[in-house]
Amino acid sequence: MKYGYFDDNTREYVITRPDTPYPWINYLGSEDFFGLFSNTAGGYCFYKDARLLRLTRYRYNNVPTDAGGRYFYINDDGDVWNPSWQPCRKKLERFECRHGLGYSKISSSRNGLKADHIAFVPLGETCEVHRIVMENTANATKAFSLFSFVEFCLWNANDDSQNFQRNLSIGEVEIDGGAIYHKTEYRERRNHYAMFAANRKPDGFDTDRESFIGLYDGFHEPKAVLEDRSQNSIAAGWSPIGSHRFALTLKPGEKTSIVFILGYCENPNDEKYTALHIINKAPAKRLQEKFQTDAQVDAALEKLAVYWEGLLCRFRVKSGEDKLDRMVNIWNQYQCMVTFNMSRSASYFESGIGRGMGFRDSNQDLLGFVHLVPARARARILDIAATQFPDGSAYHQYQPLTKKGNSDVGSGFNDDPLWLITGVSAYIKETGDFSILDETVPFDNEEGSEAPLFEHLRRSFNYTATHKGPHGLPLIGRADWNDCLNLNCFSETPGESFQTTANFESGVAESVLIAAIFLYTAPDFIELCRRRGEDTSEAEQSFADMKRAVDEHGWDGDWFLRAYDAYGKKIGSSECEEGQIFIEPQGFCVMAKVGTDDGRALKALDSVRERLDTEYGVMLQQPAYQTYYLTLGEVSSYPPGYKENAGIFCHNNPWISIAECEMGRGTRAFEVYRKICPAYLEEISDLHRTEPYVYSQMVAGRDAARHGEAKNSWLTGTAAWTFVNVSQHILGIKPGFDGLVIDPCIPAALKGFSVERIYRGKRVVIHVDNSAGVEKGVKSITVNGKPHSGPVTSEGELTTVNVVLG
Ligand code: GLC
Ligand code: GLC
Repeated sequence: MKYGYFDDNTREYVITRPDTPYPWINYLGSEDFFGLFSNTAGGYCFYKDARLLRLTRYRYNNVPTDAGGRYFYINDDGDVWNPSWQPCRKKLERFECRHGLGYSKISSSRNGLKADHIAFVPLGETCEVHRIVMENTANATKAFSLFSFVEFCLWNANDDSQNFQRNLSIGEVEIDGGAIYHKTEYRERRNHYAMFAANRKPDGFDTDRESFIGLYDGFHEPKAVLEDRSQNSIAAGWSPIGSHRFALTLKPGEKTSIVFILGYCENPNDEKYTALHIINKAPAKRLQEKFQTDAQVDAALEKLAVYWEGLLCRFRVKSGEDKLDRMVNIWNQYQCMVTFNMSRSASYFESGIGRGMGFRDSNQDLLGFVHLVPARARARILDIAATQFPDGSAYHQYQPLTKKGNSDVGSGFNDDPLWLITGVSAYIKETGDFSILDETVPFDNEEGSEAPLFEHLRRSFNYTATHKGPHGLPLIGRADWNDCLNLNCFSETPGESFQTTANFESGVAESVLIAAIFLYTAPDFIELCRRRGEDTSEAEQSFADMKRAVDEHGWDGDWFLRAYDAYGKKIGSSECEEGQIFIEPQGFCVMAKVGTDDGRALKALDSVRERLDTEYGVMLQQPAYQTYYLTLGEVSSYPPGYKENAGIFCHNNPWISIAECEMGRGTRAFEVYRKICPAYLEEISDLHRTEPYVYSQMVAGRDAARHGEAKNSWLTGTAAWTFVNVSQHILGIKPGFDGLVIDPCIPAALKGFSVERIYRGKRVVIHVDNSAGVEKGVKSITVNGKPHSGPVTSEGELTTVNVVLG
């Protein structure tokens, strides 16, 4: 069953009933200020860091789910309802939520009143703008009240949900005209406050939650709204909120609009106050002036639309296959932007207090983002590299606000360093900007330790090359890409971390996956060395040694092995009782061209199809672990079919698809792509449950109770890897150091397509003709009418490329 539809013209997903199988959310904000916004107006917003600078409160794990957000209540002659359906859940005559690129619109009607709510973060501003347009569609005059409501978070979301003995005494607000200021902790060490302002003077307000809602009442029955009377309460401790009341009268056909700004403002330390206890509102006033009128709001929306048009025209396909086109042209790229911005910090499954930016996650996220805003990818690379340790290893995570490595989690995830090489190579291939390699970057943010970025890559490379186990394969450390394969933590204590509890260091457990990632990245590293005039012999020797180790000790007969445990026993082998075959090394070894010339690659991929494939995607491993294995760690802690224990962990499905492209099997590559692709799952929303416009981290595997049910939508490396897969391998437009390498691998049934690409600042239009009906193989290429071989560069303003497959 569907709960909406794609509107490709407006680039929106239109939700037509509010009770979706799970809250279906959107992200507002592009750079510094962000909001999570669900189809029923739930969610919260923050400035830069979801943990440290959270403006509004949100309770995860709440009952009912998704309670709390930016709510508007209408009291129409005693009939109390919300345009967003939640929280009053009154029946609406019409409901529509349009999630668009950086904004959401909710429109609904009840009893002759129509409400249009649009929410967005204007480009370059540190606020959400909410505009409510009320229209009287009845044939008699209507007098009613409109109430706004947000609940403030006391900034640090972690403390906010724990430290009640303090929190309940520190809340402070100030009121000034239509504006409510939340200034908790401003009197001491903060120089920022939040503002919830309206563009006209309200008829009443509330800032104390208990006064507005009542102590034993819920969001769905706020006392002030039911009584149709604001209390004009001034919060003193307890729970500060912001609510305005407007008494409105509309004649038949008449409309009125009110603009609300929910924003973050900062003052220099010596300009915090204008009088005792009176905060300096200058920055707030400046922000308010920008959104006083509808015309200003419309102009900001237009700017946002132009911004997204400018981004999405950088890669656009026309294939005749609607679902493919809308995912590639709109939603996949949009999700890549969101994962680049958020890493794994804030979603409806990530609380925003748990994790910072991941070293491996962020490096992978930028693979799908770098073509959109290369300059931001560049800055991100330098931030990430600055958290690397001098020996080439890396902090697993860092905090976005401080940009410092997170020592609670520490390091020892031995795949981490290699992803830096992958990220930097992708940046250079996109931009041709080799100068990034000369940027000086410190180690562990230590002043004085600066070295060129290239030196960081060398240390990444050498770290793997020199930390090897008994079979000459890389030591796995705490885990590799699979965070849950914890071969050196024999955890028996409930609650302790499988990753960071260091109770055992075998110096023996090895990862075939890290070896494959090494072999995949090494050619780029070696090429960069060569171009810098460096001696490449040592790197080439390391490559050859690793290749030999994988050949000799990484093959199991019908597929690639996964790892060796702390006792040197095989993992992911037919010798094992459970966990005989894992997806990761099959994808990555083939991507690294291991066994592509001797039949092993095809054999491995056929084994994947035979043993791991399902209707809803490729499972991570089989058979699922039925019991907990001390020697394997978290992977065996999950019930069979979930997460890393034989779930369909979408992130590495594209690796299989890329590997299939490597082997020229376009029909199969596309099948793997399609099975987890959200637009193709729209019809089964009841089963799938998460948003049909974005990828989820995991879909329950065959062993699970609800095979096909997804969880953890939005923040997943699936977005970036899928975009790499579909754009570079299936459609086959692949940036290389010297230009675009064009080599599609598509289903034989697809007779052609065209792609428009902005590459290194210039427009390239590529027409691919597959009237021959092949899956792979370029017969001829012409560039601007002339026969061509090798990478395509974009020298003129417009480069036209004609590719014939055959
Ligand atoms: C999560 C992590 C990612 C890891 C994956 C597999 O998505 O964010 O870093 O690779 O799980 O365990
Ligand atoms: C848990 C999750 C895994 C994630 C990890 C991050 O182990 O299962 O997916 O990568 O936490 O620390």
